[in-house]
Amino acid sequence: MSTVALALPLELEDSISMQLVRQGFELSVRCSSADELASQLAQTVPDFVILAASTRYLNNRLIVEADATGVRIVALVATDSERRYAASLGLLEVVAADADWAEIEMLLLGHPGAQDAAAQPRNGTVIAVWGPAGAPGRTSMAICLAAELATAGVTVALADVDTHSGSIAPALGLLDEAPGFAAACRLAGADALTRLELERIGQRYLTARGSFWVLTGIGRPSRWPELSGERVTAAIASCREWVDYTILDTGASLENDEEISSDLFAPRRNGATIAALRAADEVVAVGAADPVGLSRFLRAHVDLLETIDTDRITVVMNKLRASAIGPGASGQVRQTLQRFGGIANPVLVPHDQAAFDGAILTGRTIVDIAPKSPARIAVAALVRQKLLPQPALAVRRNWLHRTAVLPV
Ligand SMILES: Nc1ncnc2c1ncn2[C@@H]1O[C@H](COP(=O)(O)OP(=O)(O)OP(=O)(O)O)[C@@H](O)[C@H]1O
Ligand SMILES: [Mg+2]
Repeated sequence: MSTVALALPLELEDSISMQLVRQGFELSVRCSSADELASQLAQTVPDFVILAASTRYLNNRLIVEADATGVRIVALVATDSERRYAASLGLLEVVAADADWAEIEMLLLGHPGAQDAAAQPRNGTVIAVWGPAGAPGRTSMAICLAAELATAGVTVALADVDTHSGSIAPALGLLDEAPGFAAACRLAGADALTRLELERIGQRYLTARGSFWVLTGIGRPSRWPELSGERVTAAIASCREWVDYTILDTGASLENDEEISSDLFAPRRNGATIAALRAADEVVAVGAADPVGLSRFLRAHVDLLETIDTDRITVVMNKLRASAIGPGASGQVRQTLQRFGGIANPVLVPHDQAAFDGAILTGRTIVDIAPKSPARIAVAALVRQKLLPQPALAVRRNWLHRTAVLPV
């Protein structure tokens, strides 16, 4: 009979020990802390340990002791921070605290494919948010997209790739002393960027509506050489395997310094932005919906088309307001884009000073603090209609429609 040691809070301990006995395992010891369990392992060696992935029940000493004695540990995670904590200690055998017993047992017995679904590599979608100079709202849009996607229940990482004016960390009230994206690039350059490392260097924006990972940007623009094009491409490839959606906040400039430099191998200031745009499946190109913003956008859009294919681009005109562009603002913006840039169907996001000021003030997203904002509603529609997979229902409806018009 296999023996199991437990280190769990009381409410979990009761249900797990009942299941263990019912399934024919023998309960060897119940401990109330990681250190107590580590000392126990030195005396009696169970076959397995089930513990909660909090600092009280799991620490490095326990992992070292379990490795030395060959005991398999399975950690139950109740929150994102517990999942991250387990990852930071290199523990991959994690399962949700409210998982079925069958899942826990599969992990205990080392069943192949039993690992937490979140640990499985995936082929996520990468979305780059770009826009010309003049603060049209690239960062705001990248944050809104990440928040909106996370609300839809998919896993999301938001990375600050802007080598000129990185600002995601202050916008979300996160620390940026150790820039996560620069660390990711460094590790990717050394071919050592694993999911565990990403979870160690990433920070979490936590909210009940849908939390997401954040890889913060370089606080000092002089650190731009750390984000070389090759490293950025490699870091993005790792993010693709890590989460369902990676959102990249990029810089404005697309100037390619190699054309004016005699040294082709010199690092390039805008290499990160260009690499992000080329790696992305979708590019959300953001302009400001006022006369100056429109003219800047139209000029820069020409450069964007030289960098990537047009079919990957969704144009968003942000901060739409009649006070800056005159009556019939939507029609005017659409007409100008169509006439001077051949751009059809832009997404129009209304100006909402109160919502965005509130977000900056509190370090929260507008999804959290102003869910009914017209700007949020416009971004939510973009996410539903263009970025998330279309629901089967829509396909079915089309199919029904098509069959209905077929001759009988
Ligand atoms: N739809 C909107 N309505 C009102 N204010 C907005 C809207 N979108 C963005 N803003 C505000 O515009 C300002 C600039 O936005 P943001 O920092 O996102 O621009 P950016 O393009 O990333 O600029 P930078 O060049 O500094 O990186 C911020 O104060 C933001 O709160
Ligand atoms: Mg920005």
